[in-house]
Amino acid sequence: TPFEPLQPRRIEHQQTDRGYVPVYTTDVVEQPWSTYSRTDNEVWATLFRRQREVLPGRACRELLENTERFGMRPDRIPRFEDLNKVLRAATGWEVVGVEGLLPEAVFFEHLSKRRFPVTWWIRKPEQLDYISEPDLFHDLFGHVPLLLNPVFADYVHAYGCGGVKASRIGPEALTNLTRLYWYTVEFGLIRANEGLRIYGAGIVSSKSESIYSLESPAPNRIGFDLERVMRTRYRIDTYQKTYFIIDSFESLFEATRPDLTPVYAKLRPLPPFAAGDVLPSDRVDQRGTGEGWATGADF
Ligand code: PHE
Ligand code: FE
Repeated sequence: TPFEPLQPRRIEHQQTDRGYVPVYTTDVVEQPWSTYSRTDNEVWATLFRRQREVLPGRACRELLENTERFGMRPDRIPRFEDLNKVLRAATGWEVVGVEGLLPEAVFFEHLSKRRFPVTWWIRKPEQLDYISEPDLFHDLFGHVPLLLNPVFADYVHAYGCGGVKASRIGPEALTNLTRLYWYTVEFGLIRANEGLRIYGAGIVSSKSESIYSLESPAPNRIGFDLERVMRTRYRIDTYQKTYFIIDSFESLFEATRPDLTPVYAKLRPLPPFAAGDVLPSDRVDQRGTGEGWATGADF
C-alpha cells in the first residue's frame, strides 16, 4: 500500500564468512518518486524542519544558501530530476539513484564522472535520530547542497579521480583516502568569518551531532593537515573523537591538488593515529575532555 514505508530492494543473499548477507544491486536505479508513502514524506519533513532549526549559525553559509537555491522544501521528498536541472547548470554534477552503499571502485567511478550516488529510500520513523547506513536524507540533504559550490564540487570530483588512481596503487593508499573523505566530506568543520561551522554531511544530517561537534567539550577540534588526517582512524558507531577544521574549501582543494603518490608511499610504513590522539604538532582549537568516549577499537 502507499502507506507502507519502502524498503531497500535487497536483490539476493550471498554466503560469506559472516553468514548470509544481503547484496544490493550496484547499478544506478531510477528514483521511484511517485511511490514514496505518506510516512516517507513525513520522515523527510520532520528531519528537514529539525535541521532547519538547528543549522542556522552552525552550518556554513554555502550549505544553507544552496539548500535554498535547490528549492528543497519540507513538504515533499525532492525529485532527483528537479535537483539535477539546477546542479548540471551550476557545476556539471548530477545525482544518480542507488540502492545503498557501493563498492569503493564503483563509488570512485561515479565521482570521477561527476555523478553523486544518492540512496533513493528514506529511513523509517523509528530511525530519525540514528541509522547505521546512508539513506536519502543523509545523501541528499547532507551531501548534495555543497555540490553547487564550484570549489567543493571540484574537490569531490578530484577525490573520485584520486580514488580511481589509488585503487591501482594499493589498499593502504585507499585507507588513507577513505580517512580523508571521512574527516572532510563526512565530518569536516570549517573556519568561517563568523566562526567555526559545519560542512560535513554526516554532521549536517544529524541533529545531535550538529550540536555536539561544535559545542561539546568532549571531542578534539584540530586544524586540518593532510598527512595527519590520512593517518587517523575514525569512529563509525559513535560521534567522532576528533573533528578537523579546514580554513576554506580552496585550501582543502589546494592541499590535495598535488599527485599524492609520494604521500601514500611516505605514510605506508608509519603507524596510524587513534581517533582521539592529540599530537604535539597539532594546531589545537580544543583538546577534548574525552568524556563519554567509547573504549572499543577505532575503525
Ligand atoms: N590529487 C590527488 C592525487 O593525485 C587526488 C586527490 C584529490 C585525492 C582530491 C584526494 C582529494 O592522488
Ligand atoms: Fe555520506
